Amino acid sequence: MQEQLQALRAQFDTALRQAEDSTALEALRVGFLGKKGHVAGLMQHLREFSGEAKKEAGLLINRLKDDIAQALSLRAEALRQAELDKLIQSAGQYDTSRPPQAPAGSYHPITLTQRELERIFIGMGFAVEDYNEIVNEYQCFESLNIPKHHPARDMQDTYYLDNGQVLKTHTSAAQNAIMRKYGAPLRAIFPGRCFRNESIDACHENTFFQMEGIMIDRDISISNLIYFMKTMLSEVFRQDIKVRLRPGFFPFVEPGFELDINCLICGGEGCPTCKNSGWLELCPCGMIHPRVLEMGGIDTEEFTGFAFGLGLTRLAMMRYGIKDIRDLNAGNLKVLEQFPS
Ligand code: DAH
Repeated sequence: MQEQLQALRAQFDTALRQAEDSTALEALRVGFLGKKGHVAGLMQHLREFSGEAKKEAGLLINRLKDDIAQALSLRAEALRQAELDKLIQSAGQYDTSRPPQAPAGSYHPITLTQRELERIFIGMGFAVEDYNEIVNEYQCFESLNIPKHHPARDMQDTYYLDNGQVLKTHTSAAQNAIMRKYGAPLRAIFPGRCFRNESIDACHENTFFQMEGIMIDRDISISNLIYFMKTMLSEVFRQDIKVRLRPGFFPFVEPGFELDINCLICGGEGCPTCKNSGWLELCPCGMIHPRVLEMGGIDTEEFTGFAFGLGLTRLAMMRYGIKDIRDLNAGNLKVLEQFPS
């Protein structure tokens, strides 16, 4: 019996050394300790013994069984540790101070539209300028030929600050500063957020975006204005857009126009967005009033220019088929993240 036990022990030790993973170890456990395993086989032989000898042989077999079980669990633990080490190493370098990867955000449809316009105008030689959201009354009104008690101020009721400054009602408020900054000749666009005391509905907001543009040079005429507007719109919409030009009054241009585009939401049939007219006022424009040029330090003997104030918010609505202007300012990510960049 002794010899059989020793042989079995040796056989087990060899097999244990060769077991490389937990699967091999489990096979070993079944082979030695399982119901039909080697140890169970030895137990069968006990029948051949009796008395003290049988008792002693039983003890020895049990001790072997315990030893094998213990060796298996030690080896299992060592293997688990080795597998863990391997896993950590295979994960390569890691940096405990690295911030977690946040899901990527998406651009606001107005940002997307603004960038597209900037790209188009830069391609036509325009500079892109930024300007304040808080301006003084001179910048917002007087420098644009809208004196203090002029009725045109009523069209642009805004928010006055205690110090007399205003939240700019239109991007035109930057015209004077930009003329003074560059002088003539000049081509610039200046997008910006504007504010008005409006009652809010599907197409009016108290906070919205415009993109102003001015071009001042020798011999600039209405033809230049129409050319630039048409080129810009056909690039933005990547299709032929129906436009109409109507006379419009703005104290800082003469003559002044309203440039309307056929409503892309209803195709001209009439819907709440276009107030059932089939047309949307998109881009008021005109030839810059000589007095405005003068206040900007431009020599009106030599230079003329055109200006336009594109409704950036409205353009974004047309471009993406956004029916309600309030969706743009509501900050609802479920809506905003749907726009392709
Ligand atoms: N500033 C005007 C507004 O917001 C729009 C405008 C009209 C801008 C005519 C212009 C222009 O540059 O030529 O109502």
